[in-house]
Amino acid sequence: MRHDLVMYTVPKLTDYSAASINSESRDLLSALESEATVVNSENEYKVFRDRWLARKDGIATQINDLWLKPAPKEAKRDAGQLVNELKKKIEETVERALQHSKGGASALRLAAERVDITLPGVRRPIGAEHPVIKTMNEIVHVFRNLGYSVSEGPEVETDYYNFEALNFPPNHPARDMQDTLFLAGQDKKGQRDRLLLRTHTSPVQIRTMELLKPPLRIVIPGKVYRNDPPDASHSPMFHQIEGLAVDTNITFGDLKGTLDHAMKALFGSSVKTQFRPSFFPFTEPSAEMMVSCFICGGSGTRGTEPCRPCKTTGWIEILGCGMVDPNVFEFVKHNGYDPKKVSGFAFGMGADRIAILKYGVDDIQLFFQGDVRFLQQFG
Ligand code: PHE
Repeated sequence: MRHDLVMYTVPKLTDYSAASINSESRDLLSALESEATVVNSENEYKVFRDRWLARKDGIATQINDLWLKPAPKEAKRDAGQLVNELKKKIEETVERALQHSKGGASALRLAAERVDITLPGVRRPIGAEHPVIKTMNEIVHVFRNLGYSVSEGPEVETDYYNFEALNFPPNHPARDMQDTLFLAGQDKKGQRDRLLLRTHTSPVQIRTMELLKPPLRIVIPGKVYRNDPPDASHSPMFHQIEGLAVDTNITFGDLKGTLDHAMKALFGSSVKTQFRPSFFPFTEPSAEMMVSCFICGGSGTRGTEPCRPCKTTGWIEILGCGMVDPNVFEFVKHNGYDPKKVSGFAFGMGADRIAILKYGVDDIQLFFQGDVRFLQQFG
Protein backbone atom coordinates (compact mmCIF):
# COMPACT_ATOMS: atom_id res chain seq x y z
CA MET A 1 0.00 0.00 0.00
CA ARG A 2 1.29 3.45 -0.84
CA HIS A 3 1.91 5.61 2.16
CA ASP A 4 2.42 8.85 0.31
CA LEU A 5 -1.36 9.09 -0.22
CA VAL A 6 -3.47 10.83 2.35
CA MET A 7 -5.50 7.88 3.52
CA TYR A 8 -9.24 8.04 3.40
CA THR A 9 -11.06 8.13 6.76
CA VAL A 10 -14.79 7.66 7.27
CA PRO A 11 -16.38 10.93 8.36
CA LYS A 12 -19.32 11.19 10.74
CA LEU A 13 -22.61 11.89 8.93
CA THR A 14 -24.80 14.65 10.22
CA ASP A 15 -26.44 15.68 6.98
CA TYR A 16 -28.55 12.83 5.57
CA SER A 17 -29.74 14.74 2.52
CA ALA A 18 -29.45 12.91 -0.79
CA ALA A 19 -26.76 15.36 -1.97
CA SER A 20 -24.65 14.86 1.12
CA ILE A 21 -25.03 11.08 1.11
CA ASN A 22 -24.12 10.91 -2.58
CA SER A 23 -21.05 13.02 -2.13
CA GLU A 24 -19.84 10.99 0.86
CA SER A 25 -20.34 7.70 -0.92
CA ARG A 26 -18.51 9.04 -4.01
CA ASP A 27 -15.52 9.94 -1.82
CA LEU A 28 -15.52 6.48 -0.26
CA LEU A 29 -15.78 4.70 -3.61
CA SER A 30 -13.02 6.72 -5.20
CA ALA A 31 -10.74 6.00 -2.20
CA LEU A 32 -11.64 2.32 -2.53
CA GLU A 33 -10.80 2.34 -6.25
CA SER A 34 -7.53 4.17 -5.97
CA GLU A 35 -6.31 2.02 -3.07
CA ALA A 36 -7.29 -1.14 -4.96
CA THR A 37 -5.24 -0.23 -8.01
CA VAL A 38 -1.95 -0.21 -6.09
CA VAL A 39 -2.38 -3.69 -4.61
CA ASN A 40 0.30 -5.77 -6.35
CA SER A 41 1.39 -8.43 -3.93
CA GLU A 42 -0.11 -10.82 -1.45
CA ASN A 43 1.04 -8.71 1.49
CA GLU A 44 -0.42 -5.54 0.03
CA TYR A 45 -3.67 -7.39 -0.55
CA LYS A 46 -3.93 -8.47 3.10
CA VAL A 47 -3.38 -4.92 4.37
CA PHE A 48 -5.98 -3.67 1.90
CA ARG A 49 -8.51 -6.34 2.79
CA ASP A 50 -8.16 -5.74 6.55
CA ARG A 51 -8.42 -1.99 6.15
CA TRP A 52 -11.77 -2.31 4.35
CA LEU A 53 -13.30 -5.51 5.66
CA ALA A 54 -11.85 -6.27 9.13
CA ARG A 55 -14.81 -7.18 11.28
CA LYS A 56 -13.79 -5.03 14.20
CA ASP A 57 -12.61 -1.80 12.65
CA GLY A 58 -12.71 -2.12 8.88
CA ILE A 59 -14.22 0.69 6.81
CA ALA A 60 -17.30 -1.46 6.03
CA THR A 61 -17.92 -1.78 9.77
CA GLN A 62 -17.23 1.91 10.30
CA ILE A 63 -19.88 3.06 7.79
CA ASN A 64 -22.31 0.80 9.59
CA ASP A 65 -21.43 2.41 12.94
CA LEU A 66 -20.95 6.00 11.78
CA TRP A 67 -23.56 6.31 9.01
CA LEU A 68 -26.33 3.78 9.53
CA LYS A 69 -26.65 3.47 13.30
CA PRO A 70 -26.89 7.23 14.06
CA ALA A 71 -29.28 7.85 11.12
CA PRO A 72 -32.55 9.57 12.04
CA LYS A 73 -35.61 7.36 11.67
CA GLU A 74 -36.80 8.86 8.39
CA ALA A 75 -33.36 8.36 6.75
CA LYS A 76 -32.74 4.83 8.09
CA ARG A 77 -34.17 3.00 5.10
CA ASP A 78 -32.15 4.87 2.48
CA ALA A 79 -29.03 4.80 4.62
CA GLY A 80 -29.41 1.07 5.15
CA GLN A 81 -29.71 0.50 1.42
CA LEU A 82 -26.70 2.68 0.69
CA VAL A 83 -24.50 1.00 3.30
CA ASN A 84 -25.46 -2.41 1.89
CA GLU A 85 -24.58 -1.31 -1.63
CA LEU A 86 -21.27 0.12 -0.47
CA LYS A 87 -20.44 -3.08 1.44
CA LYS A 88 -21.13 -5.11 -1.69
CA LYS A 89 -18.88 -2.79 -3.71
CA ILE A 90 -16.14 -3.13 -1.08
CA GLU A 91 -16.37 -6.93 -1.11
CA GLU A 92 -16.26 -7.01 -4.90
CA THR A 93 -13.29 -4.67 -5.03
CA VAL A 94 -11.40 -6.64 -2.37
CA GLU A 95 -12.01 -9.82 -4.38
CA ARG A 96 -10.80 -8.08 -7.53
CA ALA A 97 -7.69 -6.90 -5.69
CA LEU A 98 -7.00 -10.48 -4.61
CA GLN A 99 -7.05 -11.66 -8.21
CA HIS A 100 -4.97 -8.68 -9.26
CA SER A 101 -2.37 -9.30 -6.54
CA LYS A 102 -1.94 -12.88 -7.68
CA GLY A 103 -1.57 -11.81 -11.26
CA GLY A 104 0.66 -8.97 -10.14
CA ALA A 105 2.97 -11.31 -8.24
CA SER A 106 3.37 -13.67 -11.13
CA ALA A 107 3.78 -10.74 -13.51
CA LEU A 108 6.57 -9.47 -11.26
CA ARG A 109 8.21 -12.88 -11.23
CA LEU A 110 7.89 -13.15 -14.99
CA ALA A 111 9.47 -9.73 -15.40
CA ALA A 112 12.35 -10.71 -13.13
CA GLU A 113 12.95 -13.98 -14.97
CA ARG A 114 12.64 -12.47 -18.39
CA VAL A 115 15.29 -13.55 -20.85
CA ASP A 116 16.10 -11.22 -23.69
CA ILE A 117 16.84 -13.64 -26.48
CA THR A 118 17.95 -10.82 -28.74
CA LEU A 119 21.02 -10.11 -26.55
CA PRO A 120 24.35 -11.57 -27.73
CA GLY A 121 25.36 -14.82 -25.96
CA VAL A 122 27.75 -15.05 -23.00
CA ARG A 123 31.25 -15.33 -24.36
CA ARG A 124 33.43 -17.96 -22.73
CA PRO A 125 37.12 -17.04 -22.90
CA ILE A 126 38.99 -19.78 -24.74
CA GLY A 127 42.21 -19.32 -22.76
CA ALA A 128 45.77 -19.19 -24.02
CA GLU A 129 48.60 -21.64 -24.41
CA HIS A 130 50.70 -21.65 -21.23
CA PRO A 131 54.05 -19.92 -21.88
CA VAL A 132 56.02 -23.01 -20.80
CA ILE A 133 53.99 -25.35 -23.03
CA LYS A 134 54.29 -22.83 -25.86
CA THR A 135 58.07 -22.78 -25.45
CA MET A 136 58.23 -26.59 -25.36
CA ASN A 137 56.13 -26.80 -28.53
CA GLU A 138 58.46 -24.35 -30.27
CA ILE A 139 61.53 -26.37 -29.31
CA VAL A 140 59.90 -29.66 -30.33
CA HIS A 141 58.92 -28.04 -33.64
CA VAL A 142 62.54 -27.09 -34.41
CA PHE A 143 63.68 -30.70 -33.92
CA ARG A 144 60.71 -32.18 -35.77
CA ASN A 145 61.88 -30.19 -38.78
CA LEU A 146 65.24 -31.97 -38.44
CA GLY A 147 63.52 -35.36 -38.58
CA TYR A 148 63.25 -36.05 -34.83
CA SER A 149 60.23 -37.82 -33.37
CA VAL A 150 58.68 -37.23 -29.95
CA SER A 151 58.96 -39.72 -27.10
CA GLU A 152 57.39 -39.59 -23.66
CA GLY A 153 57.80 -41.54 -20.44
CA PRO A 154 56.37 -41.81 -16.91
CA GLU A 155 56.90 -39.12 -14.28
CA VAL A 156 56.97 -41.77 -11.54
CA GLU A 157 60.09 -43.68 -12.47
CA THR A 158 62.25 -46.46 -11.06
CA ASP A 159 65.76 -45.96 -9.75
CA TYR A 160 66.87 -48.24 -12.60
CA TYR A 161 65.79 -45.92 -15.42
CA ASN A 162 66.39 -42.64 -13.62
CA PHE A 163 69.89 -43.53 -12.34
CA GLU A 164 71.30 -47.05 -12.76
CA ALA A 165 70.98 -47.47 -16.53
CA LEU A 166 72.27 -43.92 -16.92
CA ASN A 167 75.54 -44.93 -15.30
CA PHE A 168 75.04 -43.16 -12.00
CA PRO A 169 77.31 -44.77 -9.35
CA PRO A 170 75.43 -46.35 -6.39
CA ASN A 171 76.28 -43.52 -4.01
CA HIS A 172 75.85 -40.57 -6.34
CA PRO A 173 74.47 -37.56 -4.40
CA ALA A 174 71.42 -37.35 -6.74
CA ARG A 175 70.31 -40.67 -5.26
CA ASP A 176 70.09 -39.03 -1.85
CA MET A 177 66.70 -38.12 -0.38
CA GLN A 178 68.01 -34.56 -0.10
CA ASP A 179 67.90 -34.10 -3.86
CA THR A 180 65.36 -36.60 -5.15
CA LEU A 181 61.72 -37.11 -4.18
CA PHE A 182 61.23 -40.83 -3.45
CA LEU A 183 57.88 -42.50 -2.88
CA ALA A 184 57.40 -43.55 0.75
CA GLY A 185 57.18 -47.11 2.10
CA GLN A 186 59.52 -48.91 -0.31
CA ASP A 187 62.19 -50.02 2.16
CA LYS A 188 61.67 -53.67 1.34
CA LYS A 189 62.38 -53.18 -2.37
CA GLY A 190 65.81 -53.51 -3.91
CA GLN A 191 67.40 -50.23 -4.96
CA ARG A 192 66.74 -50.54 -8.68
CA ASP A 193 62.98 -51.04 -8.16
CA ARG A 194 62.45 -48.11 -5.84
CA LEU A 195 60.02 -45.54 -7.22
CA LEU A 196 60.82 -41.86 -7.39
CA LEU A 197 59.70 -38.74 -9.22
CA ARG A 198 62.03 -38.54 -12.20
CA THR A 199 64.69 -35.88 -11.72
CA HIS A 200 65.28 -35.45 -15.47
CA THR A 201 63.86 -36.63 -18.80
CA SER A 202 66.97 -38.78 -19.47
CA PRO A 203 65.36 -42.08 -18.31
CA VAL A 204 63.20 -41.88 -21.45
CA GLN A 205 66.45 -42.28 -23.46
CA ILE A 206 66.75 -45.82 -22.06
CA ARG A 207 63.03 -46.57 -22.35
CA THR A 208 62.99 -45.52 -26.00
CA MET A 209 66.18 -47.44 -26.87
CA GLU A 210 64.60 -50.55 -25.31
CA LEU A 211 61.66 -50.14 -27.72
CA LEU A 212 63.21 -48.84 -30.94
CA LYS A 213 66.31 -50.03 -32.72
CA PRO A 214 68.91 -47.58 -34.04
CA PRO A 215 69.12 -45.27 -35.93
CA LEU A 216 67.17 -43.05 -33.53
CA ARG A 217 66.40 -39.34 -33.35
CA ILE A 218 64.02 -38.29 -30.58
CA VAL A 219 63.06 -35.34 -28.43
CA ILE A 220 61.45 -35.89 -25.04
CA PRO A 221 59.43 -33.06 -23.48
CA GLY A 222 58.10 -33.50 -19.96
CA LYS A 223 57.79 -32.65 -16.28
CA VAL A 224 60.60 -33.41 -13.84
CA TYR A 225 60.89 -33.09 -10.06
CA ARG A 226 63.60 -32.21 -7.57
CA ASN A 227 63.58 -31.69 -3.82
CA ASP A 228 64.27 -27.95 -4.11
CA PRO A 229 62.45 -25.37 -2.02
CA PRO A 230 60.58 -23.00 -4.33
CA ASP A 231 62.11 -19.56 -4.96
CA ALA A 232 62.35 -17.17 -7.90
CA SER A 233 64.51 -19.56 -9.92
CA HIS A 234 63.65 -22.98 -8.42
CA SER A 235 60.51 -25.05 -8.41
CA PRO A 236 60.13 -28.65 -7.15
CA MET A 237 58.40 -29.35 -10.49
CA PHE A 238 59.76 -28.00 -13.74
CA HIS A 239 60.07 -28.95 -17.41
CA GLN A 240 62.82 -30.35 -19.57
CA ILE A 241 63.31 -31.22 -23.19
CA GLU A 242 65.71 -34.03 -23.85
CA GLY A 243 67.21 -34.99 -27.18
CA LEU A 244 68.92 -38.18 -28.34
CA ALA A 245 70.45 -39.09 -31.69
CA VAL A 246 72.02 -42.52 -32.24
CA ASP A 247 73.47 -43.85 -35.48
CA THR A 248 76.75 -45.13 -36.88
CA ASN A 249 79.45 -42.48 -36.96
CA ILE A 250 77.72 -39.75 -34.95
CA THR A 251 80.37 -37.30 -33.78
CA PHE A 252 80.70 -34.33 -31.46
CA GLY A 253 80.64 -32.25 -34.65
CA ASP A 254 77.08 -33.45 -35.32
CA LEU A 255 76.10 -32.46 -31.79
CA LYS A 256 77.56 -28.97 -32.20
CA GLY A 257 76.04 -28.42 -35.64
CA THR A 258 72.59 -29.64 -34.57
CA LEU A 259 72.44 -27.58 -31.39
CA ASP A 260 73.87 -24.46 -33.03
CA HIS A 261 71.18 -24.69 -35.71
CA ALA A 262 68.46 -25.24 -33.06
CA MET A 263 69.54 -22.18 -31.04
CA LYS A 264 69.53 -19.98 -34.16
CA ALA A 265 66.04 -21.25 -35.02
CA LEU A 266 64.84 -20.53 -31.46
CA PHE A 267 66.53 -17.25 -30.58
CA GLY A 268 67.39 -15.71 -33.94
CA SER A 269 70.07 -16.33 -36.56
CA SER A 270 72.56 -13.94 -34.97
CA VAL A 271 73.07 -15.92 -31.75
CA LYS A 272 76.39 -17.68 -31.27
CA THR A 273 77.00 -20.88 -29.33
CA GLN A 274 79.90 -21.95 -27.16
CA PHE A 275 80.65 -25.30 -25.51
CA ARG A 276 82.35 -25.67 -22.14
CA PRO A 277 83.56 -28.93 -20.58
CA SER A 278 81.22 -30.42 -17.98
CA PHE A 279 80.30 -33.74 -16.45
CA PHE A 280 77.29 -36.04 -16.56
CA PRO A 281 77.49 -39.76 -15.67
CA PHE A 282 75.70 -40.75 -18.92
CA THR A 283 77.70 -38.69 -21.45
CA GLU A 284 81.40 -38.69 -22.22
CA PRO A 285 82.70 -36.20 -23.09
CA SER A 286 80.10 -33.83 -21.59
CA ALA A 287 79.56 -30.14 -22.16
CA GLU A 288 77.49 -27.15 -21.18
CA MET A 289 76.28 -25.13 -24.09
CA MET A 290 76.17 -21.36 -23.83
CA VAL A 291 74.31 -19.06 -26.22
CA SER A 292 75.30 -15.44 -26.70
CA CYS A 293 72.87 -13.34 -24.68
CA PHE A 294 69.92 -12.54 -26.92
CA ILE A 295 68.84 -9.81 -24.52
CA CYS A 296 71.97 -7.63 -24.74
CA GLY A 297 73.35 -9.10 -27.97
CA GLY A 298 76.37 -10.47 -26.09
CA SER A 299 77.63 -7.07 -24.92
CA GLY A 300 76.78 -7.64 -21.24
CA THR A 301 75.16 -4.20 -20.94
CA ARG A 302 71.83 -2.65 -21.87
CA GLY A 303 72.50 1.01 -22.49
CA THR A 304 74.17 2.12 -19.27
CA GLU A 305 72.59 -0.70 -17.22
CA PRO A 306 74.26 -4.08 -16.59
CA CYS A 307 72.45 -6.95 -18.38
CA ARG A 308 70.85 -9.10 -15.70
CA PRO A 309 69.87 -12.29 -17.62
CA CYS A 310 73.50 -13.00 -18.58
CA LYS A 311 74.95 -11.44 -15.42
CA THR A 312 76.96 -9.09 -17.69
CA THR A 313 78.94 -12.03 -19.16
CA GLY A 314 77.25 -11.86 -22.58
CA TRP A 315 76.59 -15.64 -22.40
CA ILE A 316 73.68 -17.68 -21.07
CA GLU A 317 73.96 -21.35 -20.11
CA ILE A 318 71.16 -23.09 -21.92
CA LEU A 319 71.69 -26.85 -21.75
CA GLY A 320 73.78 -29.87 -20.83
CA CYS A 321 74.94 -32.28 -23.50
CA GLY A 322 77.52 -34.82 -24.54
CA MET A 323 78.28 -38.02 -26.41
CA VAL A 324 76.33 -41.00 -25.08
CA ASP A 325 78.59 -42.91 -22.67
CA PRO A 326 79.32 -46.47 -23.93
CA ASN A 327 78.30 -47.73 -20.48
CA VAL A 328 74.75 -46.52 -21.22
CA PHE A 329 74.61 -48.44 -24.51
CA GLU A 330 75.61 -51.58 -22.57
CA PHE A 331 72.18 -51.51 -20.88
CA VAL A 332 70.37 -51.65 -24.25
CA LYS A 333 72.95 -53.63 -26.21
CA HIS A 334 70.41 -56.44 -26.71
CA ASN A 335 68.30 -54.12 -28.90
CA GLY A 336 71.04 -53.22 -31.38
CA TYR A 337 72.93 -50.59 -29.38
CA ASP A 338 76.39 -52.18 -29.46
CA PRO A 339 78.78 -49.46 -28.27
CA LYS A 340 81.36 -50.75 -30.75
CA LYS A 341 78.98 -50.14 -33.66
CA VAL A 342 76.86 -47.12 -32.75
CA SER A 343 77.52 -43.72 -31.26
CA GLY A 344 75.24 -40.89 -30.33
CA PHE A 345 74.77 -37.56 -28.62
CA ALA A 346 72.25 -36.40 -26.05
CA PHE A 347 71.22 -33.06 -24.65
CA GLY A 348 68.78 -31.74 -22.08
CA MET A 349 67.46 -28.25 -21.46
CA GLY A 350 65.15 -26.58 -18.97
CA ALA A 351 62.04 -25.34 -20.75
CA ASP A 352 60.97 -23.06 -17.90
CA ARG A 353 64.33 -21.31 -17.88
CA ILE A 354 64.12 -20.73 -21.62
CA ALA A 355 60.55 -19.39 -21.26
CA ILE A 356 61.76 -17.07 -18.48
CA LEU A 357 64.47 -15.70 -20.78
CA LYS A 358 62.19 -15.46 -23.82
CA TYR A 359 59.36 -13.64 -22.04
CA GLY A 360 61.38 -11.66 -19.49
CA VAL A 361 59.62 -13.29 -16.51
CA ASP A 362 61.40 -12.65 -13.20
CA ASP A 363 59.95 -15.46 -11.07
CA ILE A 364 59.47 -19.12 -12.10
CA GLN A 365 56.66 -19.44 -9.51
CA LEU A 366 54.42 -17.26 -11.71
CA PHE A 367 54.25 -20.13 -14.20
CA PHE A 368 52.63 -22.48 -11.70
CA GLN A 369 50.35 -20.27 -9.59
CA GLY A 370 47.55 -20.24 -12.17
CA ASP A 371 46.91 -16.51 -11.80
CA VAL A 372 44.92 -15.50 -14.89
CA ARG A 373 46.25 -11.93 -14.69
CA PHE A 374 49.69 -13.37 -15.45
CA LEU A 375 48.56 -15.96 -17.97
CA GLN A 376 46.29 -13.56 -19.90
CA GLN A 377 49.37 -11.64 -21.00
CA PHE A 378 50.27 -14.58 -23.24
CA GLY A 379 46.80 -14.76 -24.87
N1 PHE B 1 69.77 -34.82 -17.62
C1 PHE B 1 70.69 -33.72 -17.47
C2 PHE B 1 70.17 -32.79 -16.38
O1 PHE B 1 69.04 -32.92 -15.98
C3 PHE B 1 70.83 -32.95 -18.77
C4 PHE B 1 71.49 -33.75 -19.84
C5 PHE B 1 70.74 -34.49 -20.72
C6 PHE B 1 72.87 -33.73 -19.99
C7 PHE B 1 71.35 -35.22 -21.73
C8 PHE B 1 73.51 -34.45 -20.97
C9 PHE B 1 72.73 -35.17 -21.84
O2 PHE B 1 70.84 -31.91 -15.93
